Amino acid sequence: MASRRHFRRRAVITLAIVVLFTWYLHWRTDNASIVVAQYPLLSKYISAQRGDGGAWHIPSSWTQGSGAAIENIVDAASLALNASRLLPERQIPQSAIPLIIHQTWKNTHHDRWPESFRRSTETWLSGVESGNMAYFLWDDKGIAQFIRHFEPEIESQFYALPNNVERSDVFRILVSKWIGGIYGDMDTEPIRPPSTWIAPTDLEPWQDLETGTVYKSTEPVRAIVGLEADCLPDSDLYWRMGYFYPIQLTQWSFAWAPGHPILQLFIDRLLATMQAVSEDNDPRLELYSAQQALYAIDPLNLTGPVAFTDSARGWLKTEWGLRWNALSGLADGGLSKLVGDVLVLPITAFSPGRGQYGNMGSKPVTDASARLVHHAEGSWRKSSVLVEYGKFCRTFFGRCRDWSKVSHNWII
Ligand SMILES: *[C@@H]1O[C@H](CO)[C@@H](O)[C@H](O)[C@H]1NC(C)=O
Ligand SMILES: *[C@@H]1O[C@H](CO)[C@@H](O)[C@H](O)[C@H]1NC(C)=O
Repeated sequence: MASRRHFRRRAVITLAIVVLFTWYLHWRTDNASIVVAQYPLLSKYISAQRGDGGAWHIPSSWTQGSGAAIENIVDAASLALNASRLLPERQIPQSAIPLIIHQTWKNTHHDRWPESFRRSTETWLSGVESGNMAYFLWDDKGIAQFIRHFEPEIESQFYALPNNVERSDVFRILVSKWIGGIYGDMDTEPIRPPSTWIAPTDLEPWQDLETGTVYKSTEPVRAIVGLEADCLPDSDLYWRMGYFYPIQLTQWSFAWAPGHPILQLFIDRLLATMQAVSEDNDPRLELYSAQQALYAIDPLNLTGPVAFTDSARGWLKTEWGLRWNALSGLADGGLSKLVGDVLVLPITAFSPGRGQYGNMGSKPVTDASARLVHHAEGSWRKSSVLVEYGKFCRTFFGRCRDWSKVSHNWII
């Protein structure tokens, strides 16, 4: 009696699993066919162009057949870089920045990505479809191959970083250093193709309104960066909104000619921090005490926008004597500012259409200075109740200034 009941229960469970699995398979196939119909370019450039380390596309006019023999993403990227150097129209006009787009995600299976990534990537690819541009989507394996090929001596530090968000922060810098091109996070969507990101008006002389210094450069652009925060330095708005500097650069998108010194400064700063951690703890960064010390550093300052802003700020000060806060667009209607070979775009460029609170001079997405939208600000960084509390406290009460803006990955 008991065993029959037992049998019946098992049969019911098995049946339930079969039904659920069948439903799941259906759901997946349905999902996949929706993807093909709605996003033809994801199919054309990602599903059909998958290879070792990710998916990539190099225009056939760039390679004249030699692309077919390439088997992995690292060789493909260096082929694209070599080809981009042969003709000026393979660079963003008025710059030395190759028309090569880089994105990264853990895999290339876009049928399992969030819907917003599919939509945004399709838009990046529409620029690839219509023009003279190479595209690289690096997966985790591709990143590993890249590090081993180009930066073998920092491989152990790279993999000792607390998590994937930080590795992604560092990878975008390294790929810009070695290959160059345009980087965009998966939740960014271009408004116009990168080949139009520099207009002649962006290169006009401008003046530091406080010191009177005029910046007038005729160098070709070798870096394009954008503001993510633009606040009056003596107001409390910036820290209430969670920024460390009143004028802070974004990292969700930027563009580089390979080898720009700012990129190396970022790496040097990171390695110095990691060196200090290993000296204070254990030389082996993968061990518990060192890992705990790394986890305790605010990720924004280890590899995030604070680290990046610091690197750019240091270099522009040393090379060009730039007063950092002169980059504000609040008093001049949001002008682009060329300092040496670095073009600093106003907040509207990579953050158009911000709301009224914390607008920081951001104009609508239809404005001529808007290049790209960032859809889900910070949502892919882990959030936690404590972080949310800090945000709430800063926004509404103007307190909790030093409360962390990012959840730490406490090891308990
Ligand atoms: C690109 O050029 C470099 C230097 O000229 C060369 O060493 C490398 O093999 C080239 N890469 C490819 C994939 O052709
Ligand atoms: C950020 O990192 C730098 C370099 O490692 C360090 O000197 C600085 O004290 C840190 N700042 C904060 C607020 O943690």
